[in-house]
This record gives sequence, structure tokens and C-alpha cells, in this order.
Amino acid sequence: MKRSAILAFSGGLDTSVTVRYLQEKHNMDVITVTVDVGQGENQKQIETKAKKLGVKKHYIIDARAEFVNNFIFPSLKANALYQKKYCLATALARPLIAQKIVQVAKKEKAAALAHGSSGKGNDQVRFDITMRALSNLPIIAPVRDMNLDRKTELKFAKKHGIKIDATAKKYSIDQNLWGRSIEGGVLEDPYKEPPDDVFLWVKTKNLPDKPQYLEITFVKGIPTAVDGKKMKPIELIKYINKKAGSCGIGIVDHIEDRVVGIKSREIYETPAAACLIEAHSDLEKMVLTKHETKFKSMVDEEWAWLVYSGLWEDPLKSDLDMFIDQTQKRVTGAVKLKMYKGSVRVVGRSSRFSLYSHDIATYGTGSTFDQKLAKGFVELWGMQSTEANKLLKKR
Ligand code: ARG
Repeated sequence: MKRSAILAFSGGLDTSVTVRYLQEKHNMDVITVTVDVGQGENQKQIETKAKKLGVKKHYIIDARAEFVNNFIFPSLKANALYQKKYCLATALARPLIAQKIVQVAKKEKAAALAHGSSGKGNDQVRFDITMRALSNLPIIAPVRDMNLDRKTELKFAKKHGIKIDATAKKYSIDQNLWGRSIEGGVLEDPYKEPPDDVFLWVKTKNLPDKPQYLEITFVKGIPTAVDGKKMKPIELIKYINKKAGSCGIGIVDHIEDRVVGIKSREIYETPAAACLIEAHSDLEKMVLTKHETKFKSMVDEEWAWLVYSGLWEDPLKSDLDMFIDQTQKRVTGAVKLKMYKGSVRVVGRSSRFSLYSHDIATYGTGSTFDQKLAKGFVELWGMQSTEANKLLKKR
């Protein structure tokens, strides 16, 4: 009996080529697994592609609810934006896919784990490190191991009758509920504006002339209703992706530092993430103290960096999660966003845990804030700076 490898399979160029290489160069049976994280692709079609490649078995795992609850929502609580821009859509899905691959490998008593990542990207880091945290099986990644480039892969695919669709020939794309990542082709010239055929979720032309509003309700840091309607997590994200995308919201054009040291140019379409992170972080500012807000922003940055860098299973990540969860207890309330021709901003927020006090803040009459107290405070607050400046002047 042949040994088998469990491969995370998307039906794209890299993973299709990987199936063949595992069969031919490694003489293995391949069991493919497609983890549905809301790619919006036809799972049956992917299964057909896998079967055409002669795989021994194909698994379809619907992990969308798990993806939202255990990966997307924790990232929202952390306002996670790598290098202040990238909402980690791809990065979040990788450890979940790796977890599922390991589960199937145990069930199938497989001899190896496999993925289609190249040696240039971040996904190899995320797959490898998560897989190693959960399993001792060897990891095979033919694209990386054989130093393959896209041109060679396309040739190989053609020779083996593997069909690759037109967009996949032009760009390298990864998508899930939280966002769409597009790179390669003309996008590799960082000065060139991305052509319109890059965008699928965000409208770039004929945008509505009237502003649109989004009203988001949060309970303990998690969005539970939009525009007055209670929604289940998957439905809620889809709803915002659609509505905000149609207002031109969510395009990110990013020069990014990969784990392996390469600078890359990536385009993202992330309408729901853009709106939810903006709304969530605004609400936090209203309910957390200035000390919590300042410290949390450092934790948030570290969280995003860890997850980007493939360290989902590192104990530090769960340490940070505990702190973040503690801060979310009061992040309950509503935020109103205004969207107009590609821009989005918060125009209103309210919470029963709000630390904003109209009485204290008002410039109007009748405030209980005693301004006279401020004089002495300011003097002490600036004392060292004042002394230092006096000294510098003397010199
Ligand atoms: N740069 C992003 C990340 O490292 C996306 C990578 C996948 N992108 C792609 N177009 N295949 O998470």
C-alpha cells in the first residue's frame, strides 16, 4: 500500500501542481482537503478538480463558523492590522487550515502533511509552524522544495492537462470571509496603479451619490447586529462586505514586510474588516480608560505581528488574548458609520459603559468640572520639562 499525504487544496495553480508532484516525485497517494473559510467558491467544483487529478479521497470541511468565532472575532478584538494596514485575512485562515489538515492526517493515518506554499511567502511559515505544533509528521511543500516559479508551474500544469482559470493566470489570489488578497502580475510594479480587473468585492466606478450609513452593535467586543437587525456572524460579515464594498470601501494597497525579509506589494479588498475595525476601535476609546487604551494599542500591535508571522500557536498569543478579552467586557454599544465614495468614518457612538461625560466635557454653562484645579495640575505636569528648558537656555 502506498503512503499517503494530506494536502490543503484550493484548486488553484500551486496546489494542483502539488498534487501531481506528490504523486509522481514522492510516489504517494494524495488526500486533498478543502477547508471552507468563506472563499465563496464552489466546493463541488474544487472536489471535481481534485478527483480529476486522481486523488485518493477529497474532504470538504465547512469551517466558516469556527473561522469567524475563533479567528476573525479575536482579531477584531485586537483591532488587528499588520503594519497598520493589513487585516490579516490570509494570515488568520492558515492556522485553521493547518489544524484541519492535522486532524485528517490522524484519521487517515497519513505519512506526511503537504501544502502548496512557496518558499518566498508567509503562508509556508504559518502552515509549517502550526503543523509542527500539532503533529510530528514530515511536511512536504513541492513548490518550495523544488524552487518552482509560476511560469514553470503553468508549463507543468499545461503538460499535465491541469486547467487553470484566466484570473489565476494573471494574479495570485487568496480569499475568505475577512478579505481578498491579490498579488503578482502587473501589481509587482509598485508604482503602477492596480487595474480594475483586480477588484471583485469593491466597486470602483459609478459609486452612489448619496452617503450610506452602517449602524453596528457590539456586545463585549463582538458585533451582533447591523442596521437594527440581529445577525449571525457569517451573515453579518457578508452583509457588511456587500454594503461597504458597493460604496467603494475596503481597498488597501500595501507595501508589506514579509517574514522572510522580502518587501512585497499586495492589494487587499476588505470592506467588512475596514468598517468593523474602525467602529470597534472607536467604541473602545469611549469605554476604556486612557491607560487601558494606550497599553492595549501596544498589545494589539504585538498580536497582529505574531499572527502575521505564523506564531498563532505560540503561548504569547494566548497570553495576549487573555488580556484582550479582559478589556472587552465593557466594549458594548453602538457605532454609526458614514460611507461615501470610498471613504468611511465614524459619525456617532454610544455605550452604557461610556466614560464620556457631557457634564465634565461641556464648554457650556453649569459644568461641575472646577477649572481652577487645572492650574496646579498643569504646573506639576510640566515641571520637569520647564526645568530642563530653563537649564538648556542657560548653557
Ligand atoms: N500578504 C498576505 C499575507 O501574507 C497575503 C498572502 C497571500 N496572497 C496571495 N495573493 N496569494 O498574509
